[in-house]
Amino acid sequence: MTIPRADMPLPPQFVFDNPAAYELMMGRWSALVADPFLDWLALPPGLAWLDDGCGNGSFTESLLRRQRPATVVGVDPSPEQLAFARQRVSTVGVRFLQGDAQALPLSDASVDAAVMALVLFFLADPQQGIRELVRVTRPGGTIAAYHWDMDGGGFPLQPIRDAAHADGYEPQKPPSAWAATLEASEDLWLQAGLLDVRTTQIEVCRDFDSFDDFWRTAQGNPRLRDFFASLAPSVLQRLKGRVREQLGVAGDGPLVLKARSNAVQGRKRQVVHTQVASDAETAY
Ligand SMILES: C[S@@+](CC[C@H](N)C(=O)[O-])C[C@H]1O[C@@H](n2cnc3c(N)ncnc32)[C@H](O)[C@@H]1O
Repeated sequence: MTIPRADMPLPPQFVFDNPAAYELMMGRWSALVADPFLDWLALPPGLAWLDDGCGNGSFTESLLRRQRPATVVGVDPSPEQLAFARQRVSTVGVRFLQGDAQALPLSDASVDAAVMALVLFFLADPQQGIRELVRVTRPGGTIAAYHWDMDGGGFPLQPIRDAAHADGYEPQKPPSAWAATLEASEDLWLQAGLLDVRTTQIEVCRDFDSFDDFWRTAQGNPRLRDFFASLAPSVLQRLKGRVREQLGVAGDGPLVLKARSNAVQGRKRQVVHTQVASDAETAY
């Protein structure tokens, strides 16, 4: 077996290089989805997990708290995110590797459960990412993901996207946002030959101290950060005003925002070789 090398560079606008800002902007949102998602998977403790696109370890932390896994391997291309994850989670049995989801640095059938939390839509080739999840998962193991319902308005920063759109701007979407719908996710899991494919939506609410708190944290998004930097100050102020208006926030009081993710899971086939006249294979 050849272990593929992780040598596919990410386009610069999708490089996550500020894990502390990521934590405030998105890690906390991801942690809100992680618990209901893991409940939905309903897997036993003591498994070997892959946290594919582990980022700064937000989902890894939930995984450890909720599942009591035997081992976890986190894979991410960003050295900054990985350094943060290693500091955050230093439990025995957990290791973090630099790598690409489309060429995982793992052996075949080496984990029981493989998860992508908010990652699939960043891959240039989501099908290849799923093939890799299938390759590294043992037969009978679980392959699952959650991603923001981008097309259905579930992205946590959607109010900013909407206001920018109303102002004639079009902030960039992740390269494979199309894969984040429930239908596309289900199709991708079925095309990968997985069994018992199921999908669900998970809605979460997050508290912010104020509108300014929300606005500050939003700038941890590398694409928004670049987008804001490209605007004249007066245009940026107008945009901020629009977002406020859209959210119906007048003063500086606390704010509760909602987001919605689409989740998908399936099981890798067991292949049984039966020694009859011809070598038959049964999948179940
Ligand atoms: C939105 S973050 C999700 C991080 C973490 N899973 C969480 O739930 O907070 C997306 C992560 O995907 C990583 N990523 C982007 N492209 C990737 C790829 N091709 N393979 C693996 N991870 C990738 C980024 O570096 C980033 O850490």
